[in-house]
Amino acid sequence: MTAVGVIRGTTTDRRAVVPLLRRLRSGEGQADPLPIWEELRALGDVVPAPWGGYFVTGYEACSQVLRGRNWLAPDFAWQARQSDTARWREPATQEMTRTLSRLNAPEHTVQRRALGNLFDRRTLEVMRPQIAGHVTRLLDRLDVQLRTHGEADFVGTVGDRLPIHTVGRWLAIPAEHYPHILDFTHRQVHAQELLPTKSELAVSARATLEMRTFFTGLIAHRRAHPGDDVLTGWIRHWDAQFPHDRAAADQMLYDLTMFITIASLETTATLLTNAVWLLTQDPARADWLRRHPEHVDDAIEEVLRYDPPIHLNSRYAADDTVLAGVPVAKDAIVHVLYGAANHDPRRNENPHVFDIRRKGSHLTFGGGAHYCLGAALARMEARLLLTELLERFPTLRPTAAPTYAGRMVFRRITSLKVTT
Ligand code: HEM
Repeated sequence: MTAVGVIRGTTTDRRAVVPLLRRLRSGEGQADPLPIWEELRALGDVVPAPWGGYFVTGYEACSQVLRGRNWLAPDFAWQARQSDTARWREPATQEMTRTLSRLNAPEHTVQRRALGNLFDRRTLEVMRPQIAGHVTRLLDRLDVQLRTHGEADFVGTVGDRLPIHTVGRWLAIPAEHYPHILDFTHRQVHAQELLPTKSELAVSARATLEMRTFFTGLIAHRRAHPGDDVLTGWIRHWDAQFPHDRAAADQMLYDLTMFITIASLETTATLLTNAVWLLTQDPARADWLRRHPEHVDDAIEEVLRYDPPIHLNSRYAADDTVLAGVPVAKDAIVHVLYGAANHDPRRNENPHVFDIRRKGSHLTFGGGAHYCLGAALARMEARLLLTELLERFPTLRPTAAPTYAGRMVFRRITSLKVTT
């Protein structure tokens, strides 16, 4: 393995990152993680983590991990080899470990092949008018709230809702279930955080049970009442793969349906709200984009680069290796920091400047075998929303900075108050 980029001084002190991690999780860090990412990168491209393993901060090194065949997702086999087995036996963690994001070849390849390109051009063309309809209805509600109260919360009114309406319709889930799905998604996510507390894991465990009950019921109901929707197609496919083992087919269907649904919600909601925050906090920026709608896609890519909805993702080394000059032992875990990578000045010049026309690069949807399956859908939701929002609300602006959940992996904006 070759080292990448200009290797800068790497600390060997495993405690060096502790205060930075604490800040990253704090209110201050959630509101503005940029200086912390900067400080982390100043420690090196590959920085030792306090519990063993490493944080990867540089763009090239992160890209190498995400795309390299010798870096694997921390699956059940890896977890079984760890000394802190109690952490990995948590029910909510186990539930996530069966999903695509924690599988390696050959299981991962089989599932990705079966899913294919979920949001190809033809599917997106069918979905476009449906999503446009959701956008119009949600913006109508925003309009009513702004007229009635002079102010509205963009997150509760639009940002959190567009993704569940989009994916719910795609999977043919009745709308009455959307609030419950959003609720257990927000609670389940703790188990996927970097250092969840015991009480957070307990919250996740309860949410996991609700999630399992909901999706198992959904699949059973769809089996009894098949339609022409994507879930019915998955049921046919996996029943044919497991003709004599209904339980195995049901388990696979549950893992896929549950994971694809929850993977699509907070991530896209954060993109949408970030876009509104980053564009409308500077009225001249929003006005420019309104007059140049041909740059909406560029604006979305810059929002994705500037503040990625997922901050961190983990892989482990399949063999002894060297990453950016740092020896990494077989089985050591590495945490890819998407935000730090996207703000690496060796990749994106003046990275802390939000510049719609920069044509920069980002790793926000990951890379390699696990590259996000919903990237095209998230981009389409953002495009349809921003285009109509800028046109209908030319003077929309935030009345305060957004508030954030105290997370380190999955960024979540809990509120963004706006007015016109
Ligand atoms: C802005 C919105 C989104 C962001 C930032 C995002 C980000 C990511 C990231 C970082 C990964 C991990 C990639 C890796 O490990 O290299 C991922 C995986 C995944 N995403 Fe997304 N995602 C978004 C929206 C969606 C949507 C809308 C869906 C589905 C409708 C979706 C479904 C998935 C799935 C199924 C995976 C697992 C892929 C695998 O492990 O093979 N995501 N996403």
